[in-house]
Amino acid sequence: MSDESRPSPAGPPSAPAQAPVAAVIPAAGRGVRLGPGAPKALRALNGTPMLIHAVHSLAASRHVSLVVVVAPADGPTEVKSLLDAHALPERTDFVVVPGGESRQESVALGLAAVPPEYGVVLVHDAARPLVPVDTVDAVIEAVRDGAPAVVPALPLADTVKEVEPATEPGAPEPVVATPERARLRAVQTPQGFDRATLVRAHETVTEDVTDDASMVEQLGLPVVTVPGHEEAFKVTRPLDLVLAEAVLARRRLNDGY
Ligand code: CTP
Ligand code: MG
Repeated sequence: MSDESRPSPAGPPSAPAQAPVAAVIPAAGRGVRLGPGAPKALRALNGTPMLIHAVHSLAASRHVSLVVVVAPADGPTEVKSLLDAHALPERTDFVVVPGGESRQESVALGLAAVPPEYGVVLVHDAARPLVPVDTVDAVIEAVRDGAPAVVPALPLADTVKEVEPATEPGAPEPVVATPERARLRAVQTPQGFDRATLVRAHETVTEDVTDDASMVEQLGLPVVTVPGHEEAFKVTRPLDLVLAEAVLARRRLNDGY
């Protein structure tokens, strides 16, 4: 018996150590917080659409052999031609599907397009275009090692307060608690999953969630963190575009061109 046929460590359902990896990239949001303009994923960063940067970042991992892009509902044709227009690794297959009303719905539509032989599924926001490949690979490795759900996470710089949200914007809000900062983490994407677990989570959890791993938590299964990365930040508000372009400029300098 070769080492590769060893079963994964004991525990909840786990993907085989060499399971093929698919990445689902939800890109169907409008980007309301970024202000008026094209859908966020199609906005340019240093001349290239954010979505293309995100696809490159995931396809940079030699483990990722399928990328499913979840396009704005009216945008799959445009997204397909964008993918055709940019050089992408030949070892990777690409599929484009139309998205839904919520991020959760968009992820479910993308997941439905992943064939069953992909034992590991990553879900990655198009709005995190600059995630380093080492972060992607760390998530994949942890899922292949037997974790049903893995999230990249960073400690917080700010202290966080829980408040009683005001009904009018800008009105003072009573603080109800201050969680201990050292125990808090900000989580990023790609989040990685044993495929069967993520499918079951989407079938079971119907309430709104803001990340995929929380659905797995609701199934009562363990979710673990791996170190996240500053450059995996989410482009949300206009200042984030400035930061993203600065990161790209620094990479160019460091690459020695
Ligand atoms: N997303 C999606 N389908 C939706 C909503 C969001 O695929 N119906 C995607 C976005 O395209 C983005 C990711 O989910 O890549 C994270 O969402 P977020 O950063 O909130 O992006 P938007 O929803 O586009 O931004 P906003 O909330 O400011 O409108
Ligand atoms: Mg949103």
